[in-house]
Amino acid sequence: MRISIRAESMPASPIRKLVPYAEAAKKKGIKVYHLNIGQPDIPTPEIFFKYVKEKSESVIAYSHSAGTFELRHAFLNYYSSLGIKLDENEVIVTNGGSEAVIFAMASIADPDDEIVVIEPFYANYKGFASLLNIKLVPVRSEVTNGYRLPPKESFEEVITDKTKAILFSNPTNPTGVVLNREEINTLIQLAEEHDLFLISDEVYREFAFDGRASISLLEYYDSDRVIMTDSLSKRYSACGTRIGVLATRNKAVLDASLKFAQARLSPPTIAQLGAVGLLELGKDYTDKVKEKYQYRRDVVYEELSKIPGIVLTKPEGAFYVSVGLPVDDAESFVKWMLTDFNDLGETVMVAPLSGFYATEGSGKKEIRIAYVLEKEKLRRACELIRKGIEQYNNN
Ligand SMILES: Cc1ncc(COP(=O)(O)O)c(C=O)c1O
Repeated sequence: MRISIRAESMPASPIRKLVPYAEAAKKKGIKVYHLNIGQPDIPTPEIFFKYVKEKSESVIAYSHSAGTFELRHAFLNYYSSLGIKLDENEVIVTNGGSEAVIFAMASIADPDDEIVVIEPFYANYKGFASLLNIKLVPVRSEVTNGYRLPPKESFEEVITDKTKAILFSNPTNPTGVVLNREEINTLIQLAEEHDLFLISDEVYREFAFDGRASISLLEYYDSDRVIMTDSLSKRYSACGTRIGVLATRNKAVLDASLKFAQARLSPPTIAQLGAVGLLELGKDYTDKVKEKYQYRRDVVYEELSKIPGIVLTKPEGAFYVSVGLPVDDAESFVKWMLTDFNDLGETVMVAPLSGFYATEGSGKKEIRIAYVLEKEKLRRACELIRKGIEQYNNN
């Protein structure tokens, strides 16, 4: 007996694969600052727990496969506040933004079809594509150019008659780029000229800094080419609630996604109760959280700028920064920081960026930092990276 080729080719999460080394370091009594994963430290708002307590029923039943009526309406109100008018059949509540991306991909692409992604990209897109036997075709953004959207011609070089969509996150994980109007227009032009869907993953929508607005694609471009995926995980520091959403005006995609949703029965019922509360929090809440991340971004940017030889652009959104490091191999460096380095009993774990690329051998000198800790911890963690690089290069 053997397992499937699909299973064998499923990539391990680049973020989680070094975790055993962090665990070993902790067993030795070393304190590890975790900047490797996008798990915010901000407490989940109290209203989530209040709604769960007050609204739970005696049987935890399945909900409608597209999500409870109350939650879909809470999403509609939230989108309406962003200028996006949707009706209750145009949103499907999913198990996190992850399932929304899976439904979107599954609805529009057959096995061996292609979806274009801008690399580096959110690493789990690879796993989703692998599950569905879809090929991800990368177009490269460059660290030296602040990971801006590559020119239109670079997309045109890779688009074939098997290409079904362009998939991107905005604000972007892992680079912190917030796509500007011109970049969004390029994507729209490509979609129109090559008859493609645009899957716009907007889980970091509220986190755009320095007065920037991140463009929500359905608001900007009201077209049935757009499939927007979204999540409460990051916005409300509620990753474990597993509540996301797929929204589109495309009837065929909605019908298909609903069938996939019916096959997995329902999103988590208890979490949907609390999610209604989260969506009532409004802009005041998300603005405060954004300010906090912006402040942390400033701290990380200031500290990282002190590292000689670093390639760094000030991130504009989300809560990540990707940088080029003056080391021979970022993955060995990240591992070495956990196995061989400590400063006064402390070290740091970050994510090597190679796993965020589809092109073999790319991102070898880059890492991603998630600034999901308080400022003093962030300062110290950046100092550890600086000291670590010095020692690593002297070895
Ligand atoms: C760009 C992006 N999309 C989707 C997700 C999935 O999030 P969740 O499934 O928790 O909503 C993440 C999580 O890190 C992400 O960074």
